[in-house]
Amino acid sequence: MASYLITGGAGFIGSHLAEALLARGHHVWIIDDLSTGSIANLDPIRENPRLQYFVDTIMNTARMAELIDRVDGVFHLAAAVGVRLIFENPVHTIQTNIRGTEIVLELAARKKKKVQIASTSEVYGKGARVPFRESEDLVLGPTTCPRWSYACSKLIDEFLALAYWREKQMPTLVTRFFNTVGPRQTGRYGMVIPNFVGQALRGEALTVHGDGRQTRSFAHVRDVVRAVIELMERDDTNGEVFNIGNPQEVSIIDLARRILELTGSHSEIRHVPYEEVYGPDFEDLDRRVPDVTKLAGTIDWSALQDLDAILRAVIETERGKL
Ligand SMILES: NC(=O)c1ccc[n+]([C@@H]2O[C@H](COP(=O)([O-])OP(=O)(O)OC[C@H]3O[C@@H](n4cnc5c(N)ncnc54)[C@H](O)[C@@H]3O)[C@@H](O)[C@H]2O)c1
Repeated sequence: MASYLITGGAGFIGSHLAEALLARGHHVWIIDDLSTGSIANLDPIRENPRLQYFVDTIMNTARMAELIDRVDGVFHLAAAVGVRLIFENPVHTIQTNIRGTEIVLELAARKKKKVQIASTSEVYGKGARVPFRESEDLVLGPTTCPRWSYACSKLIDEFLALAYWREKQMPTLVTRFFNTVGPRQTGRYGMVIPNFVGQALRGEALTVHGDGRQTRSFAHVRDVVRAVIELMERDDTNGEVFNIGNPQEVSIIDLARRILELTGSHSEIRHVPYEEVYGPDFEDLDRRVPDVTKLAGTIDWSALQDLDAILRAVIETERGKL
């Protein structure tokens, strides 16, 4: 059995990843500063003797060196995440996402430990053809629009990870996550499904940004985690970039309507202009759909949970919070 470090392991995806790795018999180490994650996310696994967790920042180089020395590989998920956080704390976002990744890669390179870097569909920017393919050209917006700093910082992470593989033969791989949803996701940082479900269950209006014709695709966190682990276990994934997401597409307005149906809520749908939520500099993308041909061809993957299954799981979780 192997042992792995998960940075950001008390977060939404990280905690599901920890559970899945423990279920496969591995040892798991977690470092998380709880900035957006929570210890409660680890409740189902806290007593597991094969889990060790530390509340600390990935900027603590001494701690990181100690942890990386102990493990066979690193899943680097810690990052400043969420559209709102990026707008409110742009300096913090850039520093965490670039310096944090530099620290992970520098330390892992000493003993050639394999590192998987969690990137994002945001890197496709606004120029890519739908569905987004890993080899596509990337077109970001101007530096005066803070939104793009997140994509750009993750792109630097990607370049750096791939450079370590090319120059130092240190095994790295990049996974670009598309919208990932499921139990424990927080709605605080602009995550649309938990927000809508919470509003529907409380009888509040569902707030759709813009006209709602923009589409998204949502993957269940368990499907995502399965891909993350299987890619990590293979040698032919070194130096490669993979989309991980569900190609099933839905418009935001249809998503709101479906959530009303499934919750039986009589809430209304209210359209809110983007400027009102994020200020005048905000740019949104019409469509963001992954091409998962490369992923499916490498690990024989397909999304097992469709949108309704995902919505039912989130509704159940949110009902439990009322
Ligand atoms: N959820 C999605 O839909 C999605 C989409 C694209 C990319 N991603 C990427 O996946 C990764 C995990 O995202 P998530 O959705 O689970 O979000 P999350 O906020 O739940 O997880 C991030 C975790 O990192 C921790 N963290 C942040 N800064 C840290 C620091 N300096 N030191 C230690 N820990 C720190 C947070 O406390 C949190 O637990 C991130 O890298 C994110 O960019 C997620």
